[in-house]
Amino acid sequence: MTNTPGANPDGERSRWRREHVAGIERTVDTVASPTSPPADDSTSADPASDVYVWDTWLLRGRNGEIATIDGWQVAFSLTATRELLPGERHDVAEIRCFYSADGRTWHDGGPVFDGDALGQRQWAGSALYDDGSVYLYYTAAGDDDADEMTYTQRIAVAHGGTVVADADGVHVDGPWTHEVLLRPDGDWYETSDQSEGMIYTFRDPWFFEDPATGETYLLFEANAPVTDADIGDEPSIDPAAREFNGCVGVAVSATGDPLSWELQPPLLDAIGVNQELERPHVVVHDDRYYLFVSSHFHTFAPGVSGYDALYGFVSDTLRGEYQPLNGSGLVVTNPPDAPYQAYSWMAFPHAEEVLVQSFLNYHDFAGESLDEVAELPAAEQRDRFGGTLAPTLRLAVDGNRTRITGELAHWRIPRADEELSPPNRRNAVPDLG
Ligand code: FRU
Repeated sequence: MTNTPGANPDGERSRWRREHVAGIERTVDTVASPTSPPADDSTSADPASDVYVWDTWLLRGRNGEIATIDGWQVAFSLTATRELLPGERHDVAEIRCFYSADGRTWHDGGPVFDGDALGQRQWAGSALYDDGSVYLYYTAAGDDDADEMTYTQRIAVAHGGTVVADADGVHVDGPWTHEVLLRPDGDWYETSDQSEGMIYTFRDPWFFEDPATGETYLLFEANAPVTDADIGDEPSIDPAAREFNGCVGVAVSATGDPLSWELQPPLLDAIGVNQELERPHVVVHDDRYYLFVSSHFHTFAPGVSGYDALYGFVSDTLRGEYQPLNGSGLVVTNPPDAPYQAYSWMAFPHAEEVLVQSFLNYHDFAGESLDEVAELPAAEQRDRFGGTLAPTLRLAVDGNRTRITGELAHWRIPRADEELSPPNRRNAVPDLG
């Protein structure tokens, strides 16, 4: 990978390049099997029947391990009432918690905030359980004092509340102190006023402690200002592609304090390639750093293409240099006849494997693009949308290669000490069309 000059203090910024993306192709190793919502009679595995559930993350300890509170695992999800159309959910997103004793049956713990969270709505984040305290990182989307809906984004945290268990289950309770932790600086990270792109991003904070150094980071999704030097080595690039500038941002906490962060230059960008590198997160596997992002078919720049998919990169250090996994970066995508089946993938380690959780999106739609969904009659939009978690995927990860080896049930997050049966993929290889 060629690097951007003058980027990182401890290493150069990595780039996902047009030549990598040109290699994106569905294979049996990267395509999930077709799926649909859990059957009606299995609602115990689907606590989300009243609300749409999409982006989901787990309460984790400083080392990234899934935390348990008196034996319960805790998940946080963006949610919205099913009375709305699925496409309207982003405008009213609210964070709820779910909890489970066995990683199969989940219970709805209700909204985590009392309407006092920052932003007009709250978007994705991560949750840290550290020494008995909980830190809920989230995206404050929209200006609190604006009358109309706005698309500014700030990275925020709620702290001071509690996560406690009793005989009835888990209670996530305030009062919370809400603080803005990070705003775009306009230099490494675009402000919404600077942005010329099709969509603007400064969101999705992800707590990560580097096991090699003990240093503490927040990763996030952003857009990086583009200079002539950035695309100077690609003179044939369509000028419109310059407006595509997704990046993985990072901030460091010099003391490890979960409340005190300083911006650093991006870890990786996709200038001229893609506008949205969503929900960036790192899994350490075999002493390497696997950086994962979700991205969409419709956010690739003119002249390149890809799918709604989980993309990944590997490096020997957190700073990079990162190489795209499987050559192109493609790690998990949807079947060709259900290309929007799942989205917002989150990878987490389990024994020797990496598991990947996501939500069921428009599982029954094979049109050209997601924009077309909004043109369908309301009932069809609802029928085709899952709004619950998709089956968890099993991934074998070896150096710079990955392979889907099997699938678990919807909402299946195995406990750390649980031994899984051998992967079952050979029985269910998807049709690649
Ligand atoms: C991904 C995403 C996130 C954002 C949320 C908003 O599904 O776009 O980046 O936080 O959805 O609903």
